[in-house]
Amino acid sequence: MRTAAIILSAGEGTRMKSKKPKVAHEVLGMPMVQWVVRAAREAGADPIVSVVGHGAEVVRPLVEGTVAAEQPERRGTGDAVMCASAALADFDGSVLVLSGDCPLVRASTLAELAAAREREDAACAVLSMQLPDPFGYGRIVRSETGEFLRIVEQKDATEAEAAIGECNSGFYCFDSKLLFEALHKVGNDNAAGEYYLTDVLGILREAGLRVVAVRAGEPDECLGVNSRAQLAQATRAMQARRNAELMAAGVTMMAPELVWVGPDVRVARDAELLPGTMLMGATEIGEDSVIGPNSRLTDTVVGAGCTVDETIAVEARIDDGATCGPRAYLRPGAHLMEGAKAGTHVEIKKSTIGPGSKVPHLSYIGDTTMGAGVNVGAGSITCNYDGAHKHATTIGDDVFIGSDTMMVAPVSIGSGAVVGAGSVITKDVPEGALAVARARERMIEGWAEKHAKK
Ligand code: UD1
Ligand code: CA
Repeated sequence: MRTAAIILSAGEGTRMKSKKPKVAHEVLGMPMVQWVVRAAREAGADPIVSVVGHGAEVVRPLVEGTVAAEQPERRGTGDAVMCASAALADFDGSVLVLSGDCPLVRASTLAELAAAREREDAACAVLSMQLPDPFGYGRIVRSETGEFLRIVEQKDATEAEAAIGECNSGFYCFDSKLLFEALHKVGNDNAAGEYYLTDVLGILREAGLRVVAVRAGEPDECLGVNSRAQLAQATRAMQARRNAELMAAGVTMMAPELVWVGPDVRVARDAELLPGTMLMGATEIGEDSVIGPNSRLTDTVVGAGCTVDETIAVEARIDDGATCGPRAYLRPGAHLMEGAKAGTHVEIKKSTIGPGSKVPHLSYIGDTTMGAGVNVGAGSITCNYDGAHKHATTIGDDVFIGSDTMMVAPVSIGSGAVVGAGSVITKDVPEGALAVARARERMIEGWAEKHAKK
C-alpha cells in the first residue's frame, strides 16, 4: 500500500522559551524536524507533507524536499492535519502522522506501525508507550477487555485517567480517506479550546471502525521535546544510540557519554574518539586516526592514521598520517597533506600545507600554498591582509623559514630557500637563496660595567 506522511511542525513551542520555532532546535547538530523527515523518508513515505506555521520562514528551508502546507493559526493538532488535506487530496492509502518535535523516532518503527494497521485491518494504528512519569502526554484509555477506546489529553483527564501509564506517542498511521472524513467531526470543546487530532481516534471507533494501539518496544523513541530539559534528554538518547552503532562498527571510545557524533558523520573502524570530541556535518574520520580529547570537527575530512588533538577544524582536510594540535585551529580551506603537521597554537586558513611540511608552533598561515618538506619556525606569520584585501603567499618545496618570520603577502619563497629568523619578508625570495631581513646586531663591549658606574 502507498504510504504518505504528515509532519506537524507549526507549533511555537512556548515551553522552549525561544525566539526560534521549536522544531528548528537541533539534536546532534541536526534540526529536530529533519530527523523526523528522514525517518519518514526511510520508512518509504511519499509524499511527505510538512505543516508549517509559527516561524514558517525558518522551518520551510529545513523541510526542503517535502510539500509544505501552511497552518495560518495554531488551533491544535487536528487543525494542523486538516491543513495538509489539500496536499493529499488525490492520495489514497496509509498516512503516517508524526510530530516534528519527536526526533528519536526510527524508520523501522514507522514501517512497523504502517504494517500493523494493514495487518489489523484498522482505520488507525497509534503507537503507545508505557511511561513511569506520563505527565503531559495524552493517555490511552482502554476498555476492561483491553480494547482501545479513545485518547484523553492531560488537561482534560480525570484523576483516574491521569493515573494511566500508557501514553500516546503522537505517531499514528491512518487510512487517508477515513482520517479526513473524521477530522471534520472534531470540535474544540475541551480544556485547551483546540482541535485535537487525538479525538479522531475516538470518533473512528465510535463509527464502528477498528483502532489499535501498538505498544512501542523502546519508549525513548517517542520522547516529545517540549522543553530545553527534554531537548537535552533527546540529545543524550540520540548520542547513546549513535555511539552504540559506531562502537558496534569498530570505533573505540573510552567515554562514549563525552563524544557527540552527528548523523551524517562517517567514522572508519579502529578510529578512536577521545572525550570531548564533537564531530558534526559531513565529517569523515579514516582508519586508526585518534581524535580528541577536546576536538570539534565540522565538515572536515580526516584520513587514516592521523592525530587530531585539542583541535577545532571547520571545512578542512587532514590527509593520511597528518597531525594537528594540541590547540590547532583549522579554518575553511585548510588542507594538511600527507604527513603534514599543524602544531600547538597554530591557525591555518585557506592554505595547503604540502606533504610532510611542518608548522609546529604559534603560527598563522592564511591564503598560502606550501610545497613538500617545508619547516616553518615558531611564531611565523603570513601577513595576508593589508586592511582592505587578502593576498597570497607561495612557499616552494624544502624551504626553511626561521622563527618569527613575517611573510608580507603577496610574496613567494622559492624551493630550497632559507629565511633567517626574525625576518620581515616583503620581496620574493629566489630558489635556493638565503633571505635575512632584520636589523643587524650591534655589540658595545663593556657597556654594562660603564653604565653601572654612572
Ligand atoms: C501531543 C498529543 C498528545 C501526545 C503528545 C506526544 C494532541 C492533542 N496531543 O501533545 O496526546 O501524547 O503529542 O508527544 O495531539 N502543532 C501544530 N499546530 C498546532 C498545534 C501543534 O503544527 O496548532 C504541532 C507542534 O508543532 C508539534 C506537534 O504538533 O510538533 C505536537 O504538538 P504539541 O503542542 O507539542 O502537542 P503535545 O502537547 O505534546
Ligand atoms: Ca509535543
